[in-house]
Amino acid sequence: MCGIIGCAGHEGDTVPVLLNGLARLEYRGYDSTGLAVSNSDIHVVKREGELDELVETVESEIEVDGVAGVGHTRWSTHGKPSDANAHPHTDCENRVAVVHNGIIENYQSLRDDLRSLGHEFESNTDTEVIPHLVGHYLDAGSSPKAAFHRAVEKLEGSYAIAAVFESRKEVMATRQDSSLVLGVGDEATYVASDMTALIERTDSVIHLDDGEFAFLSPDGYTIIDEDGERQSKAQTTIEWDVEEITKGHHDHYMIKEIYEQSAALRECLRNRSTTDRLISLDTFDDYHSVDRVHLVACGTSYHAALFGAQMLRERGVSAQAFLASEYAMTPAPVQDGTLVVGVTQSGETADTLAALRAADERGARTLALTNVVGSSAARECDEALYIRSGPEISVAATKTFASQLVTLTLFALHSSSTESNHETRRLVSALDELPGQIQRLFDTTTAGEIASRLADGSGYFFIGRGLQYPVALEGALKMKEITYEHAEGFAAGELKHGPLALVTDETPVFVSAVGDNETVRKTVANAEEVKARGAPLVAITDGTSSIERLADEVLRVPSTSRELAPVLVNVQYQLLAYHTARHLGRKIDKPRNLAKSVTVE
Ligand code: AGP
Ligand code: GLU
Repeated sequence: MCGIIGCAGHEGDTVPVLLNGLARLEYRGYDSTGLAVSNSDIHVVKREGELDELVETVESEIEVDGVAGVGHTRWSTHGKPSDANAHPHTDCENRVAVVHNGIIENYQSLRDDLRSLGHEFESNTDTEVIPHLVGHYLDAGSSPKAAFHRAVEKLEGSYAIAAVFESRKEVMATRQDSSLVLGVGDEATYVASDMTALIERTDSVIHLDDGEFAFLSPDGYTIIDEDGERQSKAQTTIEWDVEEITKGHHDHYMIKEIYEQSAALRECLRNRSTTDRLISLDTFDDYHSVDRVHLVACGTSYHAALFGAQMLRERGVSAQAFLASEYAMTPAPVQDGTLVVGVTQSGETADTLAALRAADERGARTLALTNVVGSSAARECDEALYIRSGPEISVAATKTFASQLVTLTLFALHSSSTESNHETRRLVSALDELPGQIQRLFDTTTAGEIASRLADGSGYFFIGRGLQYPVALEGALKMKEITYEHAEGFAAGELKHGPLALVTDETPVFVSAVGDNETVRKTVANAEEVKARGAPLVAITDGTSSIERLADEVLRVPSTSRELAPVLVNVQYQLLAYHTARHLGRKIDKPRNLAKSVTVE
């Protein structure tokens, strides 16, 4: 999920190229770094923590430079951040060093097989099976190229991989569902997970496709497809400047992360539902002793928890969401069979940790639903369920909220039944379509134009009912966090009980009305109430309800199931907040007074 850089070049150049490439990849977020260079031997240096620490270690430790090398920024998915789990990983005899982005889904069975053949593992990562597999084929007499190819054939999952071998000037690379690009220089050839790591070296690049293998040498490269056929691929010229690249080609991390939502959801869903529509949640399969669920969380994660609680209740499970800071002070009674779920992107939020500890003291079983492997919540809870969103850098949570909603949907489906049934099939097929629908929404959204027309509002209100209510709260939170304007979210039916007093012709009201059912019809009636007070009305709709006849502005979302519509509506809300903040000239990625991870109660 993080960064790879590789270089086949000349002695003296390789280490600086790798370190500079890793610095360029820092923007993707990471928890550990490392590199390996090859001459007659392979030399590996790797560290948990910041790149600066690796640089210091390299300066003090590395005596040998190499002609070929690979570097990595890791964002842990399997095994906590630690020196041992950092990449590169090697085989038992240090003949090959491998860096990997992504997840090897069948690593456990491969690891068991390799162990039974005498291989010893030094990390808890899924990645380490790769060098051991390569080593296994080297032992069986394969050439390094053949061993690399045969090892990769055994892998299931998503990966970008680069490897160096002892006594070889070559870097080998391949990919499946994870980006990898070659850079062609005059005196060296490069490979990287994205172009940002290459831009200071060359402007000539080739994008590898899934299943292709690249063999890089100082004077060139060979690309073969999965059947071993040689490919001649066109080189393209990078047109970015160095200044433009630290956030990819985006102006802010926030918008980059908003756009990453389709990919994040694909990763979140990967391998968690089977073709016969069963849900399997890697770490959390024993749900049946749970009678009641308390979800504890803060901020955006609390909004996801509200959604999760409703999804569980709709499936007959007693569930309630609590603000973690309140729960920590007065925990709800815990009985046998109570599961307390901490919903926390970072896994480090002090209020959520305090709530989980209070639950643990009362004897509840605890589950961390988090994005960060090895985080405090993941370590302290009985179990962890990962949302697999990839690193999120902008203070305003965006893609992680979508991944939380989807993980909680899987969790709710899983909790109500592990049997294949109509309900599960319907939602699983809607989930499968969701990443593509988000992508389509990006191509058609007019959120930017609407934001600029409404940016002089004196306040913003967001309303929705049912599963759209948490998203109304989240839409308002995003708006206030980055625009510094007053924004509130309400349950649509609650408006007339007080907040309606605030509604004027200067307060745009955003209303989500997707589909056409009893709940939506009631929401439309609430929209009439604000319309009658002269408020500019923005409808977020798939076009099936009658809301459009009332609306001053319309933002369309693709039609989906009632349960997943909030994910799509929320993408429009994120875009609205982002473009309004831009229009107002606000600081977007680090809004005033806020921190990404709030580690005090
Ligand atoms: C949302 O944009 C955040 N700024 C904030 O509300 C956040 O969701 C909250 O602090 C909880 O963080 P966590 O998910 O890392 O626990
Ligand atoms: N799954 C691998 C690990 O946990 C790679 C993670 C990454 O993409 O950085 O080490």
